[in-house]
Amino acid sequence: MAVSARIEELKSEALAAVAASDSTAALEDLRVRYLGRSAELTEIKKSIGSLPAEERKEVGRSANLASREIEETIEEQRAGIALAEREERLRAEAVDVTLPGVAFPKGNLHPSQRIIDDVVDFFVGLGYRVAEGPEVETDYYNFTALGIPPGHPARTMQDTFFVDEGLVLRTQTSPMQIRTMLSQEPPVYVVCPGRTYRRDSDPTHTPMFHQIEGLAVDRGLTLGHLKGTLAAMARHVFGEDVKIRLRPSYFQFTEPSVELDVSCFICGGDDPGCKVCKGAGWLEMLGAGMVDPGVLEEVGYDPEEYTGYAFGMGPDRMAMVKYGIPDLRLFFEGDLRFLRQF
Ligand code: DAH
Repeated sequence: MAVSARIEELKSEALAAVAASDSTAALEDLRVRYLGRSAELTEIKKSIGSLPAEERKEVGRSANLASREIEETIEEQRAGIALAEREERLRAEAVDVTLPGVAFPKGNLHPSQRIIDDVVDFFVGLGYRVAEGPEVETDYYNFTALGIPPGHPARTMQDTFFVDEGLVLRTQTSPMQIRTMLSQEPPVYVVCPGRTYRRDSDPTHTPMFHQIEGLAVDRGLTLGHLKGTLAAMARHVFGEDVKIRLRPSYFQFTEPSVELDVSCFICGGDDPGCKVCKGAGWLEMLGAGMVDPGVLEEVGYDPEEYTGYAFGMGPDRMAMVKYGIPDLRLFFEGDLRFLRQF
């Protein structure tokens, strides 16, 4: 067969194969087969020199034209395939932004934790340090060092869980006063949130509950400082309008001792039928007082040089009041329907 005819044949064979191919990988194979180093067309070009002189020009020309046409057709086909492949990929990856989103379940804070965070934030803002202590506490820290020696009637009032000889589940966070003072020199400004335990269970008592203890010891601290600090705290937690009042009380480790009431922020004291304050206009909030000199002596502080105040509050109770929750037991049942409301 004449070389030119063979070239034409190769060309139409190649063009048909290219037109039928449907992937860039198949096109690459065709390029190698028809234009590659050992392709028949390439061999023809290499052998042109050995052709009779009158044929060389014509064969060379048509071989080059054939190569170019095959090359161009492959490129066109490749562009078409690339476009189709791109469209296919876009279709597969398409996101319908008008579909409703997937809602992730959202966690939230327990009402007691909200109060704890609020109170702790307030005191940290005043420069207090935060400390936590053990829930299994020695009899000494929980009672004796706080002026409640063995046999003291106050011990039975606290419905203590005993763990072992001399070990109890702490009935209050007040032992943190002792631990803190034994671990540092004055001045002391510390708040201690934590779990506490008493054998008690009714709508307003649970065997585990929370307390936040506060302690300040410095030169020249007075009941006035205590009152001002707690009034500011009450406003921070319950709102700018609340007022406080102190009532005389008794605790073994403070003298004088007080209880602090907050004006009812639900009715403002104006509603005799108010469910929250029961018409009293005031809500009991916490116990407090000036640190008893005997306690300061117990930890080696000089009561002639230093005075201090302490307070202890129940964030669970405060949450009940703030959020209007009637039963404390709800706090510890872990019912998500209850917890999701906050
Ligand atoms: N620990 C007391 C209680 O559980 C509360 C308390 C009263 C704490 C007076 C104090 C305080 O720091 O000064 O009832």
